[in-house]
Amino acid sequence: MTHPKHAAADHEVLDLIRERWSPRAFDAARPVSMDDLWRLFEAARWAPSSRNEQPWRFVVTHRQQSPEAHQALYSALGASNQAWAGTAPVLILAAVQLNVEQTGEANRLAYYDTGQAVAFLTLQAQSQGLAIRQMEGFSHTIARGVCQVPDGFEPAVVMAVGYPGLPEALASEKHRAAEVTPRRRRRAADFVFNGAWGKTL
Ligand SMILES: Cc1cc2nc3c(=O)[nH]c(=O)nc-3n(C[C@H](O)[C@H](O)[C@H](O)COP(=O)(O)O)c2cc1C
Repeated sequence: MTHPKHAAADHEVLDLIRERWSPRAFDAARPVSMDDLWRLFEAARWAPSSRNEQPWRFVVTHRQQSPEAHQALYSALGASNQAWAGTAPVLILAAVQLNVEQTGEANRLAYYDTGQAVAFLTLQAQSQGLAIRQMEGFSHTIARGVCQVPDGFEPAVVMAVGYPGLPEALASEKHRAAEVTPRRRRRAADFVFNGAWGKTL
């Protein structure tokens, strides 16, 4: 039976892409091992980046292994994210190196590249049966402080990572419903043009 969150794809794509989605419910009791995590970062490591700058950095907070750090990063989340993210056994801050290492000039592709690394990491997670929900709703000031992010780097996103859990465990009815609501997307033909903007392919 197809899961309601799996993509109703118009064209054939990898199962990893079709079946990936961002849950709010995580299995708090099922631990994520260090091997699980290193495999995610290995996937990020091999993402392409402009000038091979690899501007991404990650700070891992693992509830079992570093409960204080996990709680501190959780405290940086906005209230609407705190409402569900508490069950995720791992929270990861992704940060961006803002300047090119050799020249010091602004790296205008730093976020672009970090997004690619996170996309690689996310699909690797999917292949391991892990799920990820990214969050922009967090205090950069608090995250910078608790994760000790140095000058020259900027927090980008916090990722909730874990094995999927049961929607029933979520406190909010809205969040419970969202766990089974089919995902919506623009059609590819609406963002792909033929030779010039606006022309249908
Ligand atoms: C950069 C980024 C920031 C996001 N921020 C939040 C957030 O703060 N809270 C949240 O619940 N979901 C957040 N999301 C999840 C998106 O809402 C979700 O990926 C989108 O609705 C598509 O759903 P899907 O990933 O299940 O396909 C974020 C996703 C990304 C990529």
